[in-house]
Amino acid sequence: MTTPRILPAAAWADTVAADLAERLRANPALRVCLPTGATPVPVYEALVGLARRDEVSFARATVVLLDEWLGLPPGDPARCDTRLRAQLLDRLPVPPAAVHLIDVDAADLDVAVARHAAVAADLDLVVLGLGMNGHVGFNEPGSFADSPTRIIRLAASSREAAMARYGAASVPTGGITLGMDRILAAREVWLLVTGARKAAILRRALRDPEGPDCPASYLRRHPNLGVIVDLEAAALLS
Ligand code: PGA
Repeated sequence: MTTPRILPAAAWADTVAADLAERLRANPALRVCLPTGATPVPVYEALVGLARRDEVSFARATVVLLDEWLGLPPGDPARCDTRLRAQLLDRLPVPPAAVHLIDVDAADLDVAVARHAAVAADLDLVVLGLGMNGHVGFNEPGSFADSPTRIIRLAASSREAAMARYGAASVPTGGITLGMDRILAAREVWLLVTGARKAAILRRALRDPEGPDCPASYLRRHPNLGVIVDLEAAALLS
């Protein structure tokens, strides 16, 4: 059974940031895939603080983006690359050695997908948030453990929710996500979950039989999965 680390909300982000800093110190050339969304925002804030105090550096690290919307222009405030830059990458005193965003502006999206799958073939760590419907990245319900890096056509409800949340200038048409296959092939995976509204889906992901209705449930197959949650999110775990 997967045993999550359960932390008080006040200590959660600093603890996750400290753990990531520790990974970077142990392996300065860490290849890490990072998510956007609300969950990691305080972690990135804490990491920027550590970097500015010279307690951690991404200078030799490679950062790979987890997923990206299709159909939004470069610089749109809802784009994952815009947010990861604003929240973390552009605030680091020394930028990462390499940053692999997802080239959703490419003329040939199949090429962009193939490139992203290639850069994500050798990841040390994948950091994930948990969707309210059990998704990780844009691996929505209906995804399997071997689902590849691919183009996703998202439900209208997901697209509209994204617009409302992040102030997108237009409605995204879908997304490109790192595949479940690449996530499960990374050397280490962290699932970050905070807040009472995630309690039921976290319980589903960790305690009920795995299945495509909750793609996050496949993470339990990973031999080196860390589930780092706050007390509120853990409320329904026995
Ligand atoms: P959140 O999103 O961190 O904004 O809750 C997680 C997700 O939907 O993947």
